[in-house]
Amino acid sequence: MIANWDKVARDSRVAGRGGYSKVAAFKVLSYSMADRVYLDWNATAPLRREAREAMTAAMDLSGNPSSVHAEGRQARRLVEDARVAIAGAVGALPRNVIFTSGGTEANALALTPGLRRASGLPVQRLVVSAIEHASVLAGGRFPTEAISTVGVTRSGLLDLERLRVTLDGMPPALVSVMLANNETGAVQPVVAAAEVVHSAGGLLHVDAIQAFGKIPFNISALNADMVTLSAHKVGGPKATGALVLAEGLLGLEPLLRGGGQERGHRAGTENVAGIAGFGAAVAAAMDALQRDAIRLEGLRNHLESGLRQTPDAIVFSEDVTRLPNTTLFTVPGLRAETAVIGFDLAGIAVSSGSACSSGKVQPSHVLEAMGFGPELAQGAVRLSLGWSTSDADIDRCLEAWRKLSGTLLKGSDETLVERF
Ligand SMILES: Cc1ncc(COP(=O)(O)O)c(C=O)c1O
Repeated sequence: MIANWDKVARDSRVAGRGGYSKVAAFKVLSYSMADRVYLDWNATAPLRREAREAMTAAMDLSGNPSSVHAEGRQARRLVEDARVAIAGAVGALPRNVIFTSGGTEANALALTPGLRRASGLPVQRLVVSAIEHASVLAGGRFPTEAISTVGVTRSGLLDLERLRVTLDGMPPALVSVMLANNETGAVQPVVAAAEVVHSAGGLLHVDAIQAFGKIPFNISALNADMVTLSAHKVGGPKATGALVLAEGLLGLEPLLRGGGQERGHRAGTENVAGIAGFGAAVAAAMDALQRDAIRLEGLRNHLESGLRQTPDAIVFSEDVTRLPNTTLFTVPGLRAETAVIGFDLAGIAVSSGSACSSGKVQPSHVLEAMGFGPELAQGAVRLSLGWSTSDADIDRCLEAWRKLSGTLLKGSDETLVERF
């Protein structure tokens, strides 16, 4: 344990997470990482063994997948095998999988004005749910004035009636709804949304990044026109992703032009090792999906019953279908930033609100959209589990919470210091 831990807490208060990061980097490094409990799988999953092996093998290949010689063909083979694996996992045609530099780029590529079906009109407006990831809320290539937002219910589900009213009388719109929310884990009514969107003459984009590998789905059953995936959430490498198109979608404008790779949708020499790792991770994730989902839901329920022993504890979206691995909770008076630090110093990695914004002390936009005020929206802690999470990990987390909660809920960081 670090000797100068009060400095950690002091710096974290003075300088926000940046200050904490600098000092705590030292402490965290002084831990054996093997002693730590990782409960931040929605931020990123560890690299799967299968992905590491595929990537190591790919890195030894010298060819460019666009070259016609044997070396090039060997690299091409890895890219195409991964494409087949990913297409198969979501029920799409391999030719409709476009590899990108990650989920953020895939979302930005999807949000293109002018997309259309052969029989339909090009989309002119973008409609997003209020709980989308920042990479969707940014709106892609739609101008701000062409973007509308649809709210969610108190349980964190897209408000379908609001969607219907929003689309009514509007020129054809591209609607973006995530399959499962990264903070609450709430599984969105995407099939019903597709019906509303298509009957209004629009198109549906589904950010399925958090759902992929955690719950089964496929692009035709969802009735989606596009689906976004990211490798690092399923145990593949970071900075590799894919946009998957339904058959017959037209008008996708590339973000990057040049060599014509990815059927002209995304120029640039393919990230062969990343893509090979993505394909291997997806194959492993699909293989384990059902088993993992059942086991993780059991662990998550055990975790939640422990957390609920704290008086007034709230588990968000508990009354709707959620991803089996995700818990977002708070207790009135809890400060999420301090709780995350307390867990971290107890050897447990969790996050406050969405990981991509956890560097900022801001209320969760998801909880705000669900109608929670800043006090609760700033106090939510997310615990997310994955394939290597064990019973012992959950017990350790609950033990740490029992120690931390009394102190944290008194609102005194000084007394937190004395606990460790
Ligand atoms: C729902 C959702 N969409 C998009 C992203 C961005 O994906 P990437 O990290 O691959 O850019 C994330 C990452 O946290 C996410 O959870």
